[in-house]
Amino acid sequence: MENTRPGEVLLDVRDVHVAYGKAEVVHGVSMDVRAGEFVVMLGRNGAGKSTLLHAISGLVPMRSGTVRFQGVDISRATPRDIVKAGIVQVLEGHRVFHTLSVEDNLLLGTYAANPRGDRRKLDRIYALFPELAERRHQMASRLSGGQQQILAVGQGVIGDPKLLILDEPSGGLAPLVIDRILEVAADLCKSGLAILLVEQLVEKALRHATYAYLFETGRIAAGAYPRELHEGDLLQRVYLGGGH
Ligand SMILES: Nc1ncnc2c1ncn2[C@@H]1O[C@H](COP(=O)(O)OP(=O)(O)O)[C@@H](O)[C@H]1O
Ligand SMILES: [Mg+2]
Repeated sequence: MENTRPGEVLLDVRDVHVAYGKAEVVHGVSMDVRAGEFVVMLGRNGAGKSTLLHAISGLVPMRSGTVRFQGVDISRATPRDIVKAGIVQVLEGHRVFHTLSVEDNLLLGTYAANPRGDRRKLDRIYALFPELAERRHQMASRLSGGQQQILAVGQGVIGDPKLLILDEPSGGLAPLVIDRILEVAADLCKSGLAILLVEQLVEKALRHATYAYLFETGRIAAGAYPRELHEGDLLQRVYLGGGH
């Protein structure tokens, strides 16, 4: 894939292959995310997008290939070290701890045994997400699905990552709630956090994207700016699932 976009390369994925046992599902993916970008990865269900994200975050091993973050090879780093390097992934399905309060869920994202630092971090999250501030002492189980997804995002960003990876945050949520989640991601991007979003809701995701990759059965079929996607027939491929 051509590398002509401006900005410092944060995440650099080169020729990554991932397999479950003998079944390879990611067949040599190369892509990157640069500082300030909101990168969207589009593609049909089962194409291997989550698998690629899990490989980036160290949750599944790669068969081969390289992942660098700010120039440092993290291909074989542990999930914990990858988080420390500045990559946080919010997993599919807004997972939060139902029996903990909103605030305790957020604190799980901080790692620091420094209550004063934590207070500052919490205040920043509450300023970003007023819906969490209002409910800080409620059990997470009492939040709506959308609020739980925002809580999951808050838990991800409270540790101050450089790259936030969101895997289909829209899953199971109502359209207005989805809009709010994507707006939240766009706001975070404007505040300096790079975003890598996997999403099946093409139009909604492209509204905020600065760059997009089309993912087809374990491969990147194309990388393009959103306006190029709207002009060309590439989007038809995503919608219609057309092959090569
Ligand atoms: N833990 C797993 N073990 C075996 N196969 C898996 C596992 N997770 C996903 N797969 C398979 O890998 C392929 C890609 O899945 P996935 O990465 O979840 O795709 P996507 O996120 O694009 O929907 C699918 O065929 C899926 O069934
Ligand atoms: Mg997935």
